[in-house]
Amino acid sequence: MKSLNVGLLGIGTVGGGTFNVLTRNAALISRRAGRPIRIVQVADKNLALAREVTGGKVELTDDAFALVANPAIDVVVELIGGYGVAKELVLAAINNGKHVVTANKALLAVHGNEIFAAARARGVIVAFEAAVAGGIPIIKALREGLTANRIQWIAGIINGTTNFILSEMRDKGISFDVALKEAQLLGYAEADPTFDIEGIDAAHKITILSALAFGIPMQFNRAHVEGISKLEAADIKYAEQLGYRIKLLGIAKWRVGGVELRVHPTLIPARRLIANVEGAMNAILVQADAVGSTMYYGKGAGAEPTASAVIADLVDVARLHTASPEHRVPSLAFQPDAVKDTSVMPMADIESGYYLRLRVEDKRGVLADITRILADQQISIDAMIQREPGEGESQTDIIMLTHVTQEKFVDAAITKIEALSVVTQKVVRLRMEELG
Ligand code: HSE
Repeated sequence: MKSLNVGLLGIGTVGGGTFNVLTRNAALISRRAGRPIRIVQVADKNLALAREVTGGKVELTDDAFALVANPAIDVVVELIGGYGVAKELVLAAINNGKHVVTANKALLAVHGNEIFAAARARGVIVAFEAAVAGGIPIIKALREGLTANRIQWIAGIINGTTNFILSEMRDKGISFDVALKEAQLLGYAEADPTFDIEGIDAAHKITILSALAFGIPMQFNRAHVEGISKLEAADIKYAEQLGYRIKLLGIAKWRVGGVELRVHPTLIPARRLIANVEGAMNAILVQADAVGSTMYYGKGAGAEPTASAVIADLVDVARLHTASPEHRVPSLAFQPDAVKDTSVMPMADIESGYYLRLRVEDKRGVLADITRILADQQISIDAMIQREPGEGESQTDIIMLTHVTQEKFVDAAITKIEALSVVTQKVVRLRMEELG
């Protein structure tokens, strides 16, 4: 049987993992795919590294554009990342009639609509299991396993770096800055951790999941993106006292009239399974009408976990590339002409519970003023704690959890609360999801 010939763009961590797993499990993978899968060429600027990883068994080049034009190659695996040259190479590969496997969530979230349209026009496959949550087969679950269902919402811990930082902050009572330094020392966080800690990486991933779940275009530019860099250890502690953990969640919700698409630190009940996902692990909870709730857990990064996803895509290509495009599983779960242009709701209209922390003068009548403002906005209080002021302290913290309401009502209430003379600092507001 003719082999499926692969060209690898980038032989860093994931490229090396892909090479190693494909080599180690070659016979097994071939039995599943129905044909051998062979890496025939690798392109990397660092040829010495490429030689070291491949042991000189594969043709090497430092010209990525030559690789995507190589007539011997059936599938291009793009592991460069970013949306600069990676976009040009992916579009060139498609144009040259190559199938593409990519781990590049940024590229798909930002330029996916253009890339999938180009692939459709050329009749090639673009597969991307490795782009979301590394080794967890969440793309396949949404695209195939859950295909009978109306998906209601997805809530995912889809960034391992921030989950590690939050776990350390809670376990050790340390600040964000200290936990970030620890994550960098251990190699979880990049030297420039902005994409992870500011929620951008998670927003790329939830954008992709929302397209698969709801049959909508990628709308990364409409997603609300909020990271964990401003999160204070005090709020993690108060949340704990109220029976909640704080996680950075990517949330996509189907609502009448639109879709909620947001990434932010979120309080979730400590008794939920997903609240107990610790360290750099990932987990995605999917709520759907027929199956109910399902959860997917595993490693969201790393050489071989991500290689596992890349190779699963290669096996899919090996099995399906001879089928005509209309007989293949659609890349984004819905048939391309059935995608509906449902738009993302403004944050003012989202529905959520809220955690509010107020720093107030410890005086009679303060609580009455605050609860009156909340009641005027139809906001109902679910739970409340007040910190005992220390010896000689004239101020204290009041922490409130609200029932589900619209964000615009909470914003209006906060503006009025902050105008009270007894409220001495800006109100800390976090969103809360029961995930029941
Ligand atoms: N930087 C990501 C994370 C891994 O921390 O989860 C790659 O998507």
